[in-house]
Amino acid sequence: MSRLAVELAGIRLQNPVLAASGTFGYGREYAGLVPPARLGAVITKGTSLEPWPGNPPPRTVETAAGMLNSIGLENPGLNHLVEEDLPWLAGQGATVIVNVVGRTIEEYVAVAEVLDRHRGVSGLELNISCPNVDKGGLAFGAAPETAYALVRAVRKRTRLPLLVKLSPNVTDLVRIAQRVREAGADGLSAVNTLVGMAIDLERRRPVLGNVTGGLSGPAIKPVALAAVWRLYQVGLPILGLGGIATWSDAAEFLLAGATAIAVGTATFARPRAMLEIVEGLEGYLACQGIANVSELVGRAHG
Ligand SMILES: Cc1cc2nc3c(=O)[nH]c(=O)nc-3n(C[C@H](O)[C@H](O)[C@H](O)COP(=O)(O)O)c2cc1C
Repeated sequence: MSRLAVELAGIRLQNPVLAASGTFGYGREYAGLVPPARLGAVITKGTSLEPWPGNPPPRTVETAAGMLNSIGLENPGLNHLVEEDLPWLAGQGATVIVNVVGRTIEEYVAVAEVLDRHRGVSGLELNISCPNVDKGGLAFGAAPETAYALVRAVRKRTRLPLLVKLSPNVTDLVRIAQRVREAGADGLSAVNTLVGMAIDLERRRPVLGNVTGGLSGPAIKPVALAAVWRLYQVGLPILGLGGIATWSDAAEFLLAGATAIAVGTATFARPRAMLEIVEGLEGYLACQGIANVSELVGRAHG
């Protein structure tokens, strides 16, 4: 077995480096530079039952150490995913985790039920943490009981491994994660973006069409790392993400308690960042004489 092979929440991965939802599309545009089969897995853009149009432009703006986005979960919907994207990803030999979103519990359940029967899907990631939509996303993930109800309902209707993606913009992250665990989740993804904004001095108005957006990139790495550190006590496997740009960032997340990591914003600046991280981790393990990357997980806790 390769040094980098891991199992995350029941999903076998050839390496612990995944493409974060919404930052890699379905892999097509990057395929020439980043063959999807070389990643641990591709996490798709958030998929809803019907197509969603997303928020008004402008929808992205650069910040000092990252970016703000207010895409609002624009996506072509479940049918498009099933008919076009999943077959393409399967043809590429990619491991696929589908990120799921809905306005109601029923919508999440409906998407999960269809994907449960699909051979090209290794797991689901429930997005209960998007700050850019009024209904769905963080509306479910901000409180322990709504998070519990949603995960419980989905759990009853699918046998697929369930990761639940959490927001750092909450009062008690650990309590929410504990309820998500009690509802039957197999793992946690931490974190989604943090709420932020920017103001245009010429127009004297907010830059983003949606006023606020989600902050991602290097600026949020310490926040995300602390979230993973605290979530480690919950006892579920963790997919760590938020500001990871290099193999050493990735190694910090593993040591803090993540079983695998995902890369988002860094891919925009350096499309091959994920492959460089895979190589860097491999080199680190060889150098340290570590047989498998899972030996690092949580080690910083002593
Ligand atoms: C343009 C953009 C689109 C995103 N779309 C989604 C999405 O559809 N679903 C989701 O769960 N997270 C989405 N995210 C959040 C990322 O998956 C990730 O959690 C976040 O950006 C932090 O990681 P990073 O700092 O490495 O980018 C999006 C982020 C960006 C920048």
